[in-house]
Amino acid sequence: MSDLFIELQGITKRFPGVVANDRVDLTVHRGEIHAIVGENGAGKSTLMRVLYGLYQPDEGTIAVKGHAVTIESPRRALELGIGMVHQHFMLIPVFTVAENVILGSEPVWGFGRLRMREAQQRVAELCRQYGFVLDPTAEVGSLSVGEQQRVEIIKVLYRGAELLILDEPTAVLVPQEVDELFNNLRQLVAQGKTVIFISHKLDEVLAISDQITVLRRGRVVGTVPAAGTTKAQLAEMMVGRPVLVELAHPPVEPGPVRLDVRQVRVPGRGTRPAVRDVSFAVGAGEIYGIAGVEGNGQTELVEALVGLRRITGGQLLIDGRDVTHATARAIRLMGVAHIPEDRHRRGIALPMAVWENMILGHHTREEFTHGALLNRPGIRGFVRRRVGDYDIRVADVEAPVLALSGGNQQKVVVAREFSFAPQVLVAAQPTRGLDIGATEFVMRQLLAARSSGMAVLLVSANLEEILSLSDRVGVMYGGALVAEFARGEVSAAELGLYMTGAGRTGEARAG
Ligand SMILES: Nc1ncnc2c1ncn2[C@@H]1O[C@H](COP(=O)(O)OP(=O)(O)OP(=O)(O)O)[C@@H](O)[C@H]1O
Ligand SMILES: [Mg+2]
Repeated sequence: MSDLFIELQGITKRFPGVVANDRVDLTVHRGEIHAIVGENGAGKSTLMRVLYGLYQPDEGTIAVKGHAVTIESPRRALELGIGMVHQHFMLIPVFTVAENVILGSEPVWGFGRLRMREAQQRVAELCRQYGFVLDPTAEVGSLSVGEQQRVEIIKVLYRGAELLILDEPTAVLVPQEVDELFNNLRQLVAQGKTVIFISHKLDEVLAISDQITVLRRGRVVGTVPAAGTTKAQLAEMMVGRPVLVELAHPPVEPGPVRLDVRQVRVPGRGTRPAVRDVSFAVGAGEIYGIAGVEGNGQTELVEALVGLRRITGGQLLIDGRDVTHATARAIRLMGVAHIPEDRHRRGIALPMAVWENMILGHHTREEFTHGALLNRPGIRGFVRRRVGDYDIRVADVEAPVLALSGGNQQKVVVAREFSFAPQVLVAAQPTRGLDIGATEFVMRQLLAARSSGMAVLLVSANLEEILSLSDRVGVMYGGALVAEFARGEVSAAELGLYMTGAGRTGEARAG
């Protein structure tokens, strides 16, 4: 373990109004899994982009294997054996696994049948060597999220990377896929590769890494070995004070039904429905949790409930009114808020300013207008309060949202959707990408929403979150709701069984 691989010294990276990395020192040894943790906006992704040649540091030095280097581009990073696994997959769905892997590293004219056969063999070999379960001839569009991630990792290995940077790789994975990824990572380091791993899930960090470096507001707080470190210690290092994650779930007498889903059917790709005759009702003052492995219809269900997808069978009622065929706008105006799972596609407009995103879809409200004009001071006050309440790390609310860290982008969406006194809140993966402080805050907000009489539908792949917040839990599998439990009636392990279709005999997978 004494084999030095990466040495960053005094790395400083500034953006207008922020010091994203402030004299950061980081040492990574060959063959270790080195985690980087820290609050949203602490500077983790920025530091990795510096190391991968996407950003140039303003100050500081980088040494790779003992030699001082300048990493002016990702190409140079790869030459030095440094590879980064993309968080937003950049794969081409209609190409096969092997085609995607060689794409970009081969000249176009080399894309012949012979090269293809060679590439397939090489990919199969890499899979065997590191224990990846992946068919090189499969079309990428037919793969699960976990499998697509494996393609991205193989792609980086194929280019000869010795160090793999994974920025929040587990944010998009379900528990089983996380286990599989960790097995792959362990095999990689056992064979001499090195991994830098970023995650907000401290249990994961402690389970997989050797060393953990904590960043806070751009600075290194310290590097500690995972062995002997507790979650509470890590959390305190990250936040700078002890963090208590104990949530009271006071009894609330559910009121009248607000969200009534009756035999709802939503078309999927091809002839199979994505959602098959799903029924449930959520009352005022109730949190209804839906657990499920991604790709079992939850996405389509949520989009249908907020008017973004066509409902072809059954009925959807909000506060007793039939909105089965209503538009997304009409549904929003009825007081239905939506925290989308894919914030880049549904939740925010990246090039628009933070303040604009904060009122997106609500800019015609009385408090934001002055006749035909925008009420600038009113908007500014509102945005300032939200930024404060949610501790959104932003230097200037006029800046485009794309300048925010991933977690802070999510906070903008969550802050907006909680803001306009909704009656019904449809929250899909609301804490994905959030740090522990922000996660706790959002969980408290969900409970406060419940206490104030909102009907909350919570869709999450995080079973801990589902179990600690929900009054009732439904499990979706193959587009159908296959089980429903009252609070306290089911464990995470049992939910897991239903989620993979094993909880009920004779239930065939339709998805
Ligand atoms: N391209 C950019 N332009 C301007 N500011 C940026 C840019 N990229 C990052 N920042 C700022 O730098 C700081 C660090 O951001 P970074 O993305 O590195 O955080 P992070 O630790 O990865 O957070 P998260 O956990 O939310 O992903 C933030 O204040 C962010 O707003
Ligand atoms: Mg980040």
